[in-house]
Amino acid sequence: MNLKFKRHTVTAALPYANGPVHIGHLAGCYLPADIYVRYLRSKGEDVKFICGSDEHGVPITIKAKKEGITPQQVVDKYHKMMGDAFKEFGVSFDIYSRTSSKTHHETASEFFKKLYDKKVFIEEVTEQYFDEKANQFLADRYIVGTCPKCGNENAYGDQCEKCGSTLNATDLINPKSTLSGEKPVLRNTKNWFLPLDKMQPQIEAYIDSHKEWKSNVHGQCKSWLNAGLQPRAMTRDLDWGVKVPVEGAEGKVLYVWFDAPIGYISATKELFENQEASIKNQEGERGEKVTTKSGVIPEWEKYWKDKETKLVHFIGKDNIVFHCIIFPAMLMAEGSYILPENVPANEFLNLEGDKISTSRNWAVWLHEYLLEFKDKQDVLRYTLCANAPETKDNDFTWKDFQAKNNNELVAILGNFINRTLVLTHKYYDGKVPVAAEYTKNDILLLEEISKFPSRIAASIEQYRFREALSELMNLARMGNKYLADNEPWILIKTDEKRVQTIMNLSLQISANLAVLMEPFLPFTSVKLSNMLNLNSGLKWNDATRTDLLLAGHQINTAGLLFEKVEDETIIAQVQKLEDSKKMNEESNIASVEPSKAETSFDDFSKMDIRTGTILEAERVPKTDKLLKLLIDTGIDKRTVVSGIAGYYKPEEIIGQQVCILVNLAPRKIKGIESQGMILMAENNKGELSFVAPTKENMNNGGAVK
Ligand code: 2FM
Ligand code: ZN
Repeated sequence: MNLKFKRHTVTAALPYANGPVHIGHLAGCYLPADIYVRYLRSKGEDVKFICGSDEHGVPITIKAKKEGITPQQVVDKYHKMMGDAFKEFGVSFDIYSRTSSKTHHETASEFFKKLYDKKVFIEEVTEQYFDEKANQFLADRYIVGTCPKCGNENAYGDQCEKCGSTLNATDLINPKSTLSGEKPVLRNTKNWFLPLDKMQPQIEAYIDSHKEWKSNVHGQCKSWLNAGLQPRAMTRDLDWGVKVPVEGAEGKVLYVWFDAPIGYISATKELFENQEASIKNQEGERGEKVTTKSGVIPEWEKYWKDKETKLVHFIGKDNIVFHCIIFPAMLMAEGSYILPENVPANEFLNLEGDKISTSRNWAVWLHEYLLEFKDKQDVLRYTLCANAPETKDNDFTWKDFQAKNNNELVAILGNFINRTLVLTHKYYDGKVPVAAEYTKNDILLLEEISKFPSRIAASIEQYRFREALSELMNLARMGNKYLADNEPWILIKTDEKRVQTIMNLSLQISANLAVLMEPFLPFTSVKLSNMLNLNSGLKWNDATRTDLLLAGHQINTAGLLFEKVEDETIIAQVQKLEDSKKMNEESNIASVEPSKAETSFDDFSKMDIRTGTILEAERVPKTDKLLKLLIDTGIDKRTVVSGIAGYYKPEEIIGQQVCILVNLAPRKIKGIESQGMILMAENNKGELSFVAPTKENMNNGGAVK
């Protein structure tokens, strides 16, 4: 790539502060972003890595309602939890901020106000869904319904997670309030819309100028553009969020997807505010004069407004439209900002063949992993990167985690380093031997080694982190093969000089590995650098050299870089998932559908429900579910076709008393006229049971009321 830019602003999607971080989040965006940033730092580039918690939006308020606490309590809890977990996992943000901060509220407010003053927004009174029972407007995730594009019945008011379409709540078919389960009504309300339709030519030109973007990202953008962009409301009738800073907007907040990406900007500001404060403190402590830099462009602005800054957003695929179309449109409308240069979005990571789901507790939670796998951050980093969903959805399995650790980290990388270091101690008391004379093969190997930094760099710069990691492992493989081919442990008896060269070269490979693995395996890199007693200031390009360790240099004691993961460990993790699935199913059984809309007694009385007895029962041919029943209703004997074959065998139910709706209009089912409906109770697994009188002296034809 062209590292033609003077500096880099790299962001990772601000996670909603409504739950802990799981491996899907890591593989989708935080790990690739961290690898990219660590690489840039190692190249000596000027880079700021920005993230923080997304603390507004309906997901937070829904969580607060569910837990019976305030939204602020929810975000306080998860902001700390996520920040701590990221840090311990080695995600090296320069700042992990939050959108409830004062700086953010001010920044988002000013941004909106600037667009408002420039008359960018269309102010419009439109009909929005309102829940009369909950007495509030239903924005975004407060409403679910059927996606008009793909038919997914659980699409949200702002987005369908199945097909990725962005939606307006009024697009949903059969909308339902997630607060009360009620069908919402439409009510007039004023909101401010970003006229994406009018901006389409500009946005299209921008997207077209980035054909180098990943094909999944570019493709999604093109399909939205082809469908035609629509104006999108940038305000919401909610009380949790950044207040809309204009008159006549009481009770309204900024749309979370308006405020959240501005969070990247506010966090950058805070980063420099913090740095300036700490410089001032130090100067103050030393009694030096504190000067303010008036008239100079604030440092943060360089990272957002200077054309020589490369802005890259790492996100998951569900965030593409917001980062590639809506946020750039906001930045264009504001006018003084640079636009994202790339948005390398990943696809989704599944877990053991099933979609990761917070609500079903089907996830590997980072904070739990860190507790259970102490000091094994790099094993997870390695597995997630080697298996990253870069071009398609991928699956994480514990078996694969074990295989990657045992067959790759332990058997290839760990084995090579261990053999090299142990032999160096054994033969030379830990002092790097002098390389005597290189053979032809050694020279070829040295040439190969020096090519690795640029080869790995090329993959990283194209956001191909799996490929980059696999190249890194090729260097370790090469080292292993070199030792296996040359067998210094045999040669030591006959050709000591040759062994010196072999060991010197193996040590050089080890040193280069320590430098090149840093973005991927930062903890192991530190460990290995310590074992090699390596100069800590080494940079990426130093790894093109093959003399990082000078002859006579003393290395430290060799320890193991990786340990085998045993079968029991993996079995326990799979069991934990199974247990949580079971618990989830059980708690699902306890949960019930919300009540339907109110009905009148008159309406209920129109249904003529009677007690009856099943006289005959047989399967309806060529169907799995249907039984043909003859029922004595007390009034007559009639045929009813019922979908209960999955739950009752015909021979078991002769003589069973039931309740039957006798005045239901007859209808033909599989050619048989069904003259009524048997009442059944259904549990959360969809299993059916007869609803029947519990006393034995209830004659047929008795009214059920
Ligand atoms: O999908 C999410 O988790 C969002 N909270 C991402 C926001 S990214 C940015 F715009 F802040
Ligand atoms: Zn859809």
